[in-house]
Amino acid sequence: MKSGTFITFEGPDGAGKTTIIRLVAKQLKNVLLTREPGGIEIAEQIRRVILDRDNTAMDPRTEALLYAAARRQHLIERVKPALDEGRIVLCDRFVDSSLAYQGYARNLGIDEVYMINQFAIEQMMPELTIYFDIEPELGLKRINKNKGREINRLDLEDLEFHRRVREGYHILLERFPNRMVKIDASGTVEEILQKTLQIVVNKLATN
Ligand SMILES: Nc1ncnc2c1ncn2[C@@H]1O[C@H](COP(=O)(O)OP(=O)(O)OP(=O)(O)O)[C@@H](O)[C@H]1O
Ligand SMILES: [Mg+2]
Repeated sequence: MKSGTFITFEGPDGAGKTTIIRLVAKQLKNVLLTREPGGIEIAEQIRRVILDRDNTAMDPRTEALLYAAARRQHLIERVKPALDEGRIVLCDRFVDSSLAYQGYARNLGIDEVYMINQFAIEQMMPELTIYFDIEPELGLKRINKNKGREINRLDLEDLEFHRRVREGYHILLERFPNRMVKIDASGTVEEILQKTLQIVVNKLATN
């Protein structure tokens, strides 16, 4: 049986990933829109440990391993079955978030974090990753406008950290040129949506 198409959306906080992925999903048929931990009970439990603001003693490697563990469970319980059914899976953040945030910005090393993630996901890498590029100042400004959003531990990191996250993504773009496509995310929602749809539709057409 033909397997589906696995596409991930990446980028710094406030780049507009969640906004755009929802709009893209509405335009496609046979699509699963998901994000980690995605309501998968074991993955949700792991995520609660990661995001708990009381866990100030959390070691960066512990955090990276927990992300990889939650990722594995979500992949096996939700993503893989959908791909096996031939569906398009759109995932809001995936392995590149760990590489940019833990690997690069937190100095664990992109290679080291990639290694534990390869163990977690085996060969199930996305075929296409759309990277939403944004100045950290603009991304954070967008987030702060949205008052309904709960502030988590990672949001409290300083601007310098977010600059490093973006730098990390730029390194990944050079490293995975066949898989990753960059979109300038500073424009309007409509502009970004059209660019994204074009890339996604092209990918589906060549599959
Ligand atoms: N192109 C845009 N122009 C202006 N505001 C935007 C744009 N895209 C999204 N927003 C707004 O910016 C905020 C952040 O957007 P969104 O939640 O989609 O970002 P995100 O990349 O998913 O962030 P996070 O990494 O924190 O989940 C939201 O309030 C959203 O309505
Ligand atoms: Mg989001």
